[in-house]
Amino acid sequence: MCGIVGYIGQDNALDYLINSLRVLEYRGYDSSGIAIYSPEGHIEIIKAKGKLNNLIELTKQNSQKGKIGIGHTRWATQGIPSDINAHPHADSDSEVAIVHNGIIHNFHELKEELIKNSQIIFTSDTDSEVIAHLLGLELKKGLSLKDSMLNIIKKIKGSYALAAISKSDPDTIILTCHDAPIVIGIGKEKDLFCASDSAALLQYTNKIIRLKDKQVAQLKPNGEFLIFDGKTSKQIAPQIQVLNADPVSLDKAGYKHFLLKEINEQPAILRKLLAHHLNDNLEIEFPELDKTLLDNINRILICGCGTAFYAGLMGKIVLETLAKIPVEIEFASELLSREILVDPKTLVIAISQSGETADTLLAVKAALKKGAKLLAITNRPDSTLSALAERANIFIQAGIEVSVAATKSFTAQMFCLYLFAIKLAENYKSIPSEQLNWLKNELRYLPQIMEQTLARGETYREKILPYAQLKAFVFLGRSFNYPIALEGALKFKELTYIQATGYAAGEMKHGPIATIDETTPTLSILLPGLTYHKTLHNCIEAKTRGAPSLGIIDDSDKEARQELHTIFEVPALPFSEEYKDFQDLFSPFISVLPLQLIAYYLAEHLGKDVDQPRNLAKSVTVE
Ligand code: F6R
Repeated sequence: MCGIVGYIGQDNALDYLINSLRVLEYRGYDSSGIAIYSPEGHIEIIKAKGKLNNLIELTKQNSQKGKIGIGHTRWATQGIPSDINAHPHADSDSEVAIVHNGIIHNFHELKEELIKNSQIIFTSDTDSEVIAHLLGLELKKGLSLKDSMLNIIKKIKGSYALAAISKSDPDTIILTCHDAPIVIGIGKEKDLFCASDSAALLQYTNKIIRLKDKQVAQLKPNGEFLIFDGKTSKQIAPQIQVLNADPVSLDKAGYKHFLLKEINEQPAILRKLLAHHLNDNLEIEFPELDKTLLDNINRILICGCGTAFYAGLMGKIVLETLAKIPVEIEFASELLSREILVDPKTLVIAISQSGETADTLLAVKAALKKGAKLLAITNRPDSTLSALAERANIFIQAGIEVSVAATKSFTAQMFCLYLFAIKLAENYKSIPSEQLNWLKNELRYLPQIMEQTLARGETYREKILPYAQLKAFVFLGRSFNYPIALEGALKFKELTYIQATGYAAGEMKHGPIATIDETTPTLSILLPGLTYHKTLHNCIEAKTRGAPSLGIIDDSDKEARQELHTIFEVPALPFSEEYKDFQDLFSPFISVLPLQLIAYYLAEHLGKDVDQPRNLAKSVTVE
């Protein structure tokens, strides 16, 4: 989604801005732009619809020499993707330029007022432009850019991360935010940076300050910065955070796409998580978790969006199976649609790769207001979600996920939830310790079997391509593989743009089977376990009605392979008769891989933009 960057220091700003915007490309965007305060005393704005390279081409036509600048990648919300709607936006006199992430909810009202009372002529269709005009009017009163910002945040409602520069206060970048992140980066040579995603800054610094809601920051070219409370206008002491993260690598490591690279990284991530959480004595540890988190809890509520929600659904199943605790799960956006029923005895588990998803953050804030406890499962220790959870974080350690479609973050989230569920089962003695030890040992085999599965990628590719012209697919799974059917369908539609719907296999005959004919393949997850035969029957019911039947089976399968038109074989997981109740417990880590790969290969075959599918954004920072 939208991204903000900024530079103020002794060097030319342009290179810093472009390099930082380059890193933010992974978030998904449809236009980009920069504003630089030039030595001649004016603000030069350059913006372009489409890829960042279009903007770079335009910057080559001029020589932007200024040392203060802001930049933006825009993912259209209000106003179509276009050069005009791209940020930065300026006021009528080009006195001030702003970049904005978020949505100004009262922009209609503010726009009407600005037109009526100040005869402002708007040039774009965006909500963001009102901010530039509001600031412009404050500056005309003779106020500094900082005081202008402090005044206008009292008028604007909604979510925003903002960066602004002005002609009348030329040595300054002003930042503020509300329900949207923005950080200051402290450079080595008195340079200061800003960004809405610290990933953009890591190439220059790992020392950041995360602005809190309604704080206003003033950055100066000599490396000085001040932070003010938006309500009282009083100066406050900054809290500097040192990030333990490597600069974002934009290297595909020989893979054609980041997506394929990230799919292949999954076994290594699980190994890393095992090394971090499971010690040689088979004890599971969560060093970043406050031990009192689980005291006095009588309810667990999981929330997230999209892929993170599906990981959460898996969390519900595994927590109920192992720890025997009833768990509820809701889409974060739905939690926001009515009163959130939580209290101090509720543990809310919020799952978010980015830690910046607006719906998830707002749901979490609403739950915290009611006294609920929070556990965050995120890939970003530097995120807003992680900060909200304070000492109750589980970091999925997947490394930056560049491809917009989530893959490695999904398996890492699931894996952390499995570890957490086993830990709770141990605490609550809900299953015998020898069974738990067996489960912990089994976890250790997963990376290896995942590698063996990924090595079959080419075979999966050959098997899915004959279906490339079909227009709708149905994905079926039960129990542990129900969330995988949902996630498999999501990945398939995101990447190929082909309609794909995931169902709990048992639901097929309650309606969806009406859509089935010879042009609607079903893809069933048919791995050994308690639900194998029931799922197979659902698959046959669809086949009987003409559906081409595709299935994920394991090498040991004897029955399903006879019923299926196309099989995607995966290696069999170790099996013990003694623990046969848990036979399908770990299969999601294997079944998800062919689903990710067929979505990837089909999308690639169809010529789709696999790393940045149309209309999608990596981090959805608006409601
Ligand atoms: C799917 C995908 C999205 C995200 C969702 C939540 O491939 O990427 O569905 O999973 O937007 O994002 P996070 O996990 O960052 O909160």
